[in-house]
Amino acid sequence: MSDWHPVGPEDELRDKGAAAVQIDGREVAVFWTDAGFRAVDDSCPHAGGPLSTGIACPDQGTVECLWHGWSFDLTTGECRTAPSDALVTHDVRTNSGQVEVRLRAEPA
Ligand code: FES
Repeated sequence: MSDWHPVGPEDELRDKGAAAVQIDGREVAVFWTDAGFRAVDDSCPHAGGPLSTGIACPDQGTVECLWHGWSFDLTTGECRTAPSDALVTHDVRTNSGQVEVRLRAEPA
């Protein structure tokens, strides 16, 4: 069985810019950036704000949480506001016009 989960059509997700999806009961935010699709846990490490509704900056590959303004790199998960609170990132690929996500484990 494949670990890759289809989350939607590539052109639709690109037009939306950001979307919240659920994979195996886990909330995941998928973003379109200038460097391609990115997927992260849809829960801000600060206090659980939904990052899929945050302010995404596609050219910088970042998202800013709407709740208290923490900023994250969508590729590395690095938190630019509080470096010790990184975001869990997931693998993303496109396959026959579909965006697919492979979940990573929670950080230890
Ligand atoms: S919950 Fe995201 S910055 Fe506070």
